[in-house]
Order: sequence, then C-alpha cells, then structure tokens
Amino acid sequence: MKRLGILLSGRGSNFEAIADSVAAGRIGATIAVVISNRPEARGLEAARERGIDAVSIPSKGLDREIYDRMVVGELRKHEVDLVCLAGFMRLLSAYFVREFPLRILNIHPSLLPAFPGLDAQHQALEHGVKVSGCTVHFVDEFLDHGPIVVQTPVRVRDDDSAETLAARILREEHRIYTEAINIVLSGKWRVEGRRVIAEG
Ligand code: GAR
Repeated sequence: MKRLGILLSGRGSNFEAIADSVAAGRIGATIAVVISNRPEARGLEAARERGIDAVSIPSKGLDREIYDRMVVGELRKHEVDLVCLAGFMRLLSAYFVREFPLRILNIHPSLLPAFPGLDAQHQALEHGVKVSGCTVHFVDEFLDHGPIVVQTPVRVRDDDSAETLAARILREEHRIYTEAINIVLSGKWRVEGRRVIAEG
C-alpha cells in the first residue's frame, strides 16, 4: 500500500476530501502523516480526530532549506511515497523537490498558468475571466509551476464574489485531487517536457 504525506497550512478541506476518498476506498493508499507549518492549522486537528498522525513543524524564522530538511526527515520517518500539498502556503526548496522527484503534487484554485500565488479566485474576478477552475500539478521549486496532471474549468458568474467563486472551485478541487492522486499512483504516465502523458 502506497503511503501519502499531506502538507497543509490552514483549514484542510482538501486533506479531508483525500481522507474521505481513502476511507471510502476511492484511493488505494493510506495517509501516513499530516504536517503543518502552522501549529494552529485546523487541518491538524481534523487529522487527529481521524486518528491520523499530525505533526506541527513551525516554520517561523527558519531558513528555507533547514526547514525543508526537517519536513523531509518527518516524511522519510513515515516512509511516504507521495507528498500532497493541500493549501501548504510555502515554496519548496530545490533540495525538497530533488528528494521527491515527480512525487510531490499541489492543488491550486485557478487554471494555471493563469493566476499563480495568493488569492487566485480574487485575481480571476479582477481580471474579468469568464472561466476559471483548478489545477493539480507536480511541484518544482517555482511557484505553482510544475507539469499539470489534472485541470477542470469552473464558469465565472456575473454576480460572483471571490467567496462564491472560491466555494464552487473548492468543490471541484476536492474531486480532482482524488483523480490526480489515482493517476499518479497508477504509474501509467510519463512526463515529456511540461506534458504529463497517460500510458496504457
Ligand atoms: C485551496 O483552495 C487550495 O487550492 C489553495 O488554498 C486552499 C486551501 O484550502 N492553495 C493555493 O492557493 C496554493 N497556491 P484547504 O485548506 O481547505 O484545503
């Protein structure tokens, strides 16, 4: 059974969606550990309520690579095969990325490469796009940047606020993260340049 490590900074609804998929047998893996850089993250509490190992590693004041070495150490201790960033609001160092080559996923609430970074749903509204959505991609050391595994569109309504748009995108995030994890765990893909190509 493959072992997932989840990294989060806040609410943890994507973690909970993944945990629901694992519990329902929609993902054939176990969640080995949940790690947060914020001790107060609601996602840590949600993990503990589910009986999943939840570890707080505060990042405040630490050099990026020193911090990443601590996180990688914890992931190794739990023998994690695939790392899933679920609202983990930190850039990973080149060191971290090299430790898990094509073994780190991130979810982002826009159709990348549009609107990377913070408040993607607000950025989409401000820009006036008619369609936004969400993306699951492999992580490299650049912000919201690596090869794309799954994307899905969400229509922007004229009466949307950042909150209503975010809520509709979030429902799709919860769906496509499970889909992307299953694709990656199947091993039936290869990466050509920036493209993730399905095999078999
Ligand atoms: C999600 O919308 C996720 O896509 C976003 O943070 C939110 C976390 O919510 N991530 C990013 O913007 C990454 N650049 P959650 O804690 O409820 O899963």
